[in-house]
Amino acid sequence: MKTVESIEVIIAAIEELTPLIKRFTLRKVGGGSLPPFSGGSHVTVVMRGGERTFRNPYSLLSSPRNLDSYEIAVRRDAQGRGGSLFMHHIVTVGTRLEISHPINLFPLSKLARKQILIAGGVGITPILAMVDDLSAGAISWELHYCIRGPDHAYFGTWLSERYGDRVRLYDTSIGQRIDFAALAGWQPLGTHLYVCGPQSMIVDALESGRVAGWPESHLHAEQFAPPPVGEAFDVHLAGSGKIVQVSAEQSLLEALEAAGIEAPYLCRSGACGRCELNVLELDGELLHNDHWLTEEDRLSGTKIMPCVSRAKCRRLVLDW
Ligand code: FES
Repeated sequence: MKTVESIEVIIAAIEELTPLIKRFTLRKVGGGSLPPFSGGSHVTVVMRGGERTFRNPYSLLSSPRNLDSYEIAVRRDAQGRGGSLFMHHIVTVGTRLEISHPINLFPLSKLARKQILIAGGVGITPILAMVDDLSAGAISWELHYCIRGPDHAYFGTWLSERYGDRVRLYDTSIGQRIDFAALAGWQPLGTHLYVCGPQSMIVDALESGRVAGWPESHLHAEQFAPPPVGEAFDVHLAGSGKIVQVSAEQSLLEALEAAGIEAPYLCRSGACGRCELNVLELDGELLHNDHWLTEEDRLSGTKIMPCVSRAKCRRLVLDW
């Protein structure tokens, strides 16, 4: 089953940038331009591996002004569910893949007076294209980027060489940290903040903005955490009467897709709300891992975001 409006691409180049990160260059099969995108966009990459199909979202890190190819970066996660290992070990130059059209759930505000970008590790990937967009404009910006030592400094070095003192690097292996309170405390009115990285970094950056009195509309975050593994369970679909088994390593959304069900999605990371499903019955508990549902939604026990959340139960009945 192809994803809706998928694009067939071929891997044109692979570069090992750090001990954990590879960069992949994607070109359209048959040649020609790829669809336009803006900084902060991602595509969903479909990886068909034997009995498993992975659909992972990856940010586009190449310049939005170059549509001859897209670039994505994949961090190898040996403990993960297999998508990053597929990209690192199975995909070679010449491999064909399907990708979705670009979607931007992390766009730059056009009304900002100043832009502050914050990233940690591979969280730099959406920021790279955002910086490219900003470097072509007139709005003031600065980037604060945390790396884990010289071996992981590829993007930091590249950014520093290109953009000079607009880029501030923090090497956490020698104890350097971003002072979020100071950063948020002394900015002109109308500044927007964007953060992509580990959950703790996102929480600290957003909280510092709130404490400094920034409006919520000026605080932006993105996190592409893979769905956590868990215990296997069965899902009963009330509309069709189908029963779908969700394995320990699968997300609920992946299990539905593997069963031939075209469930809706956009971000596959619990942020956009597109995949929300209603729960009719449950003989256990819902394990919410999204950033979409409200506390009230969670307490009601009637909603689940299948892209990242699962259940600890024997039987879950969905209104589908
Ligand atoms: S696809 Fe975006 S929240 Fe699930």
